[in-house]
Amino acid sequence: LDDLLGEGVSGRRVFVRADLNVPFDKSDPTVISDDGRIRAVLPTLVALRDAGAKVIVASHLGRPKGAPDPKFTLAPVATRLGELLGTPVVFAEDTVGSSATEAAGKLTGGQVLLLENLRFNAGETSKDDAERGAFADQLAALADSYVDDAFGAVHRKHASVFDVPARLPHYAGGLVVREVEVLRKVTETPEKPYVVVLGGSKVSDKLAVIKALLPKVDKLLVGGGMCFTFLKAQGHEVGKSLLEAEMIDTCASLLAEADGRIVLPVDVVAATEFSADADHEIVGVADIPAEQLGLDIGPQSVALFAEAIGTAKTVFWNGPMGVFELAPFAAGTRGVAEAITKIDGFSVVGGGDSAAAVRTLGIDESGFGHISTGGGASLEYLEGKTLPGLAALES
Ligand code: 3PG
Repeated sequence: LDDLLGEGVSGRRVFVRADLNVPFDKSDPTVISDDGRIRAVLPTLVALRDAGAKVIVASHLGRPKGAPDPKFTLAPVATRLGELLGTPVVFAEDTVGSSATEAAGKLTGGQVLLLENLRFNAGETSKDDAERGAFADQLAALADSYVDDAFGAVHRKHASVFDVPARLPHYAGGLVVREVEVLRKVTETPEKPYVVVLGGSKVSDKLAVIKALLPKVDKLLVGGGMCFTFLKAQGHEVGKSLLEAEMIDTCASLLAEADGRIVLPVDVVAATEFSADADHEIVGVADIPAEQLGLDIGPQSVALFAEAIGTAKTVFWNGPMGVFELAPFAAGTRGVAEAITKIDGFSVVGGGDSAAAVRTLGIDESGFGHISTGGGASLEYLEGKTLPGLAALES
């Protein structure tokens, strides 16, 4: 971005791919429940706006099926972005259609335009290179240069991430640069002891990262829904808790390979149903009742995890420890997050749900070394995969 600003952008059309895929309030789907991803891209947008660029911002939101769907409109994001920028944001009701092209054509230097959801166009996510390329041609025609500040989407081989930079002079935004610097440090030269905390619902989603991290970590703490498949692999009955039956053998092999370095909960908060009002109790992992499901790690597990975290010089955390959105099941995530803020070392919160948990639970963000805006992206970086968005910027 500094290179682009150095070249001068006054009156130039700059396409900024941002990741404005923010969560919305479950009880009011028009209210953004965590605007962290919008805030994270502000420095790039402000720098371009203040340098007099015509700023054209594009993002995806959710997973619409390649056609307009009002449930996934970016309109509320345009409003919030305008509030945060302190200047109104022009909103186009399509991405490359007449609304977008007219709005882009009318932009004056220092104005910001947000296009409608990229994924309302089948070409954005298409696996067919020609279809993606045709959409990328239309996007590229809107601008003179391209900035990728969508760290959360760099693992996607999508038109706006992978194909547009091949068509325009391309630059990394400040957020992408910082994210990569931090994740490179954690991946290549983590100061030891290195403790990784993983949560979230599925082992299968995290399998690749577990395999990549296991040789590097001193401890791997596993909570969230995924811990039940590990507990089952240890021989425990897990009642109605989340279970990936086909992953039990894999978990057993990982536990054997880890030789004590994978740490599992010793107690959980179990409830009769997935509801804030459900009857719930703390039970040892050997005593999960058949008709109940575990929705959070219990207090002894929090203490066990906090002890391991307290020894660390580097902590990477991805995934909540329980259903933190429901008050009775938030203590595990809160306890682990608070323990991470207290370490005498460097901590990284990797991604979507865990970053949202930090802000939703009101935990002091300054206690973490870095809060990533990328969930899947940061995990794939740690796995050592080539990320299409970063490869495109480097070529
Ligand atoms: C994310 O939330 O991880 C990113 O915005 C990417 O979204 P996706 O998983 O729908 O591609």
